[in-house]
Amino acid sequence: MWRAARLGRGVALGLLLTVHAVAAFEPMTVGIAIGAASALTGYLSYKDLYCRFAECCREEQRLNASALKLELEKKLFGQHLATEVILKALTGFKNNKNPKKPLTLSLHGWAGTGKNFVSQIVAENLHSKGLKSNFVHLFVSTLHFPHEQQIKLYQDQLQGWIRGNVSACASSVFIFDEMDKLHPGVIDAIKPFLDYYEQVDGVSYRKAIFIFLSNAGGDLITKIALDFWRAGRKREDIQLKDLEPVLSVGVFNNKHSGLWHSGLIDRNLIDYFIPFLPLEYRHVKMCIRAEMRARGSVIDEDIVTRVAEEMTFFPKSEKIYSDKGCKTVQSRLDFH
Ligand SMILES: Nc1ncnc2c1ncn2[C@@H]1O[C@H](COP(=O)(O)OP(=O)(O)O)[C@@H](O)[C@H]1O
Ligand SMILES: *[C@@H]1O[C@H](CO)[C@@H](O)[C@H](O)[C@H]1NC(C)=O
Ligand SMILES: *[C@@H]1O[C@H](CO)[C@@H](O)[C@H](O)[C@H]1NC(C)=O
Ligand SMILES: [Mg+2]
Repeated sequence: MWRAARLGRGVALGLLLTVHAVAAFEPMTVGIAIGAASALTGYLSYKDLYCRFAECCREEQRLNASALKLELEKKLFGQHLATEVILKALTGFKNNKNPKKPLTLSLHGWAGTGKNFVSQIVAENLHSKGLKSNFVHLFVSTLHFPHEQQIKLYQDQLQGWIRGNVSACASSVFIFDEMDKLHPGVIDAIKPFLDYYEQVDGVSYRKAIFIFLSNAGGDLITKIALDFWRAGRKREDIQLKDLEPVLSVGVFNNKHSGLWHSGLIDRNLIDYFIPFLPLEYRHVKMCIRAEMRARGSVIDEDIVTRVAEEMTFFPKSEKIYSDKGCKTVQSRLDFH
């Protein structure tokens, strides 16, 4: 970017000299040349022009909190807690000119409840190309770090990637999916980047964002949601304080959580634990309607009901929550 900007100035200077040379002869050319030169010398306008064609990392760029809020409220169903915490975490972090550490979010909940979905929305609001952006990186444990024998290689690789990408763009976003299947050794490799250091080897990680996704704690979250339901209380009345302590302790004590003994929790490196509630029948229906709308088809309530009724629900006695959340909605819709 800097090199490109300087190049722009060089060209502009060249144009200005040309202007002087032709000034006596052709007023028209002079006008055009001056216009071009002034457009190019203005560093900001040049940068804007450049960023219109190539993706730029603009770390000073503000987050449009109201746009994010609108999008979450419109697209994310049944997750009032996640919506609230994510908004608070991101606006707080992006409004802070001097964060003391990178932002670390840990998203927990049953499969198909919207963790990947939300990460995608968040990514798009930070870098407009979303998951396709050069500044957003998605790692899936089972895909990128599958072999236990190669932990050492993964550690080195991952540290190099994080260092390289944050050097290139301070506001890089890293998403780790399936944390519960990630070897603790790999998590240990990320730890130094998440801490309160001003710099690590000359690179500051304080503007970066790390998002961890896992199913760990999903059973505890479901239990609390179920308790509320059985007590006849509203889902929307579940508050963060009902969940947060159980969540971090529960996750920590679960050997299969991936965060277990990785030192991420005992050193308080996670800023926010974000619970995703299990989805009910009515939420599944909302997902089906959203999918139909996205496909451009008219919403046929008969089909919506039929697809929703094909899903399986638990617990056995009451059948309240969808086993797979909204996960298989898309493929099921193909059959109707
Ligand atoms: N709470 C939700 N609101 C709206 N759509 C959802 C929600 N949960 C899941 N979906 C839909 O189901 C798909 C799969 O969910 P996903 O985010 O991958 O679940 P997971 O929590 O396992 O990461 C998403 O792409 C989205 O279309
Ligand atoms: C933020 O988003 C809202 C809603 O999408 C939009 O109306 C507004 O113009 C945006 N603000 C900025 C500064 O881009
Ligand atoms: C950035 O991360 C990607 C993986 O998402 C990696 O392939 C790439 O080499 C990294 N870039 C640098 C400069 O390290
Ligand atoms: Mg997932």
